[in-house]
Amino acid sequence: MKIIIRRENENDHRIVEELTREAFWNLYVPGCDEHYLANILRNHPDFIPELDFVAVVDDKIVGNIMYTKSFVADEKNNRINTLTFGPLCVLPEFQRKGIGSSLINHTKDIAVRNNSKAIIILGSPHNYCKHGFKNSIDFNIGNAQGKFPYGQLVLELQKGVFAGKKWRFHCSSAYDIDAKAAAEFDSQFPPRKKEYKASQEEFSIAVRAFLGK
Ligand SMILES: CC(C)(COP(=O)(O)OP(=O)(O)OC[C@H]1O[C@@H](n2cnc3c(N)ncnc32)[C@H](O)[C@@H]1OP(=O)(O)O)[C@@H](O)C(=O)NCCC(=O)NCCS
Repeated sequence: MKIIIRRENENDHRIVEELTREAFWNLYVPGCDEHYLANILRNHPDFIPELDFVAVVDDKIVGNIMYTKSFVADEKNNRINTLTFGPLCVLPEFQRKGIGSSLINHTKDIAVRNNSKAIIILGSPHNYCKHGFKNSIDFNIGNAQGKFPYGQLVLELQKGVFAGKKWRFHCSSAYDIDAKAAAEFDSQFPPRKKEYKASQEEFSIAVRAFLGK
């Protein structure tokens, strides 16, 4: 199977939103908002178009990764700019074929070439530790409240860049979704049943889990 990774263009927008809806639907909550997030992210000042890629197999778009600007700040408010990806998704029937990994590796290589310092995300350790991500507690990077969420993961691109200081991570306000606007956006798509899935319980546990120091 040949996987082509290329930049997303305007003609891809709706297809990417459809595949995002397909990938996230009922996975973490009943329904999902990530297709709305993909839609609004592209016009947000923190969006990084140079890192917006789709994966194509046999001329079909089957995956997408989007990045935003983020940063960590120390106690004196010295900042280090970082990168955050999300949404990242692959159509269910194309998952477990290396497409998600290709999207991560491709964009990580660009980030390294651009001298980016680190990628910091909120996600499942299962999906990202195999790519070198570690919990942010290992770099003394708390969240904006100084806590260490289980899913706050860091991939250091410049070794030792966070050493010797305490940091707090600040992700883009783009991820603060307006639920009403998201529901309105979703009504443009074919109706789909919102249902409970066990994966939602796992997510609900993970987002309330913090590491202690
Ligand atoms: C998370 C996600 C993007 C991963 O994409 P993916 O294309 O399935 O990722 P990969 O194929 O690179 O890796 C997934 C698994 O398949 C395995 N794999 C990769 N290529 C494979 C192949 N050719 N044959 C068999 N297994 C393979 C990987 O080793 C990995 O295994 P693991 O989960 O046991 O560690 C995708 O599952 C997804 O879209 N999920 C729904 C949305 C989501 O949760 N996004 C992330 C938000 S945090």
